[in-house]
Amino acid sequence: MLNKNIIIRNLDNNKKLPYDLLLLADPSRELVDEYLKQSYVFVADVNNKTVGVCVLYHINRNKAEIKNIAVDPQYQKQGIGNTLMKEVIKQAADKGYKELIIGTGNNGFSQLYMYQRLGFEMTEIIRNFFIDNYKEPIFENGLQCKHMIILTKDLTENV
Ligand code: ACO
Repeated sequence: MLNKNIIIRNLDNNKKLPYDLLLLADPSRELVDEYLKQSYVFVADVNNKTVGVCVLYHINRNKAEIKNIAVDPQYQKQGIGNTLMKEVIKQAADKGYKELIIGTGNNGFSQLYMYQRLGFEMTEIIRNFFIDNYKEPIFENGLQCKHMIILTKDLTENV
């Protein structure tokens, strides 16, 4: 069920950030505020309402990271996350990045499925990342989120 009325736009620095969405993907406001300083923020609008967000973080001139991708729960499973990520992948390639990485928890099964469908490959595991960096334990799909799985997409191939 693809929603055809999605508008993806780059949010200007002075625009209000959709923290409700940003905190869906990353419960630490502290970490979110830290990476936003060095990031491009893209939002997905449907009927003039912002329902999705994606944060592209600059690591170096060759490498960027999608730090945050989230869709309003009422609008999930309609293709908005996929459309937003495809556009951000294209924008990252247009900005000259050669490699795009994304990290997610060991228990984020739908995210792991989605990222691999978009051409990301698992490249690294950061053990105990979510235990060491978050104050509260995080649970999803009945499992504790402990380790960060890093996936990488080569942007020098067709994107
Ligand atoms: N179970 C199985 N498959 C699913 C599920 C699910 N719960 N949700 C989505 N999918 C699949 C879809 O079938 C689709 O696959 P396809 O390409 O084969 O059609 C793909 O995943 C993407 O589906 P969309 O409808 O485009 O995704 P959606 O708009 O629902 O957004 C997102 C996905 C962003 C992960 C959303 O579920 C969300 O906001 N989750 C909460 C926040 C979150 O966990 N963000 C990621 C954290 S990691 C990070 O930010 C780097």
